Amino acid sequence: MTAPRNVVLAGPMGSGKSAVGRLLAQWLDRQFVDTDALISAATGESIPELFEKQGEAAFRELEADAIEAVCERDSLVVAVGGGAVLDPGNAERLRRSSRVVVLDATSEELAARVEGGRRAGQRPLLDGVEDVTARLEALRGERERAYADVAHASFDTTGQSLERVAAAVAAWLEEQE
Ligand code: S3P
Repeated sequence: MTAPRNVVLAGPMGSGKSAVGRLLAQWLDRQFVDTDALISAATGESIPELFEKQGEAAFRELEADAIEAVCERDSLVVAVGGGAVLDPGNAERLRRSSRVVVLDATSEELAARVEGGRRAGQRPLLDGVEDVTARLEALRGERERAYADVAHASFDTTGQSLERVAAAVAAWLEEQE
């Protein structure tokens, strides 16, 4: 029997990748891995610290390494950062090794969900941004093609509880067996 493929949650900041991923991992009795957390553990720096001290390009290299590492494993539920699938190498690796689920929501709802973390300085790409909805909308324009291309399945989480989203993803996964 082949080992179960990883389940990868991708999509924009605030789409619920980590929260849904944690719940899904619990239900499926799998380990949950967040690539941002792997990067922080490997470097001893938070994501905002890495952006500030080393810049986004250095962060993207570390992100590619983290993605390569998770793709060599199986049976995981993985949340990747919102920009991870823009790199074609990352996207290809993830699609080949895993079932890739893209979560999304309206930019207004994403903005509301990230506001607390943003104020706490946890969102380097939204640092000092006045109109967060507009910024997220601009990122959507830059990224939606990459999300659509990498997705084996996509879910709109607007107005949905974590449990409902996780249940919808779990039902889809069951259909893939
Ligand atoms: C980023 C999203 C963040 C994190 C970094 C960059 C992005 O992850 O990787 O701040 O490019 O959208 P989350 O999507 O988990 O917030």
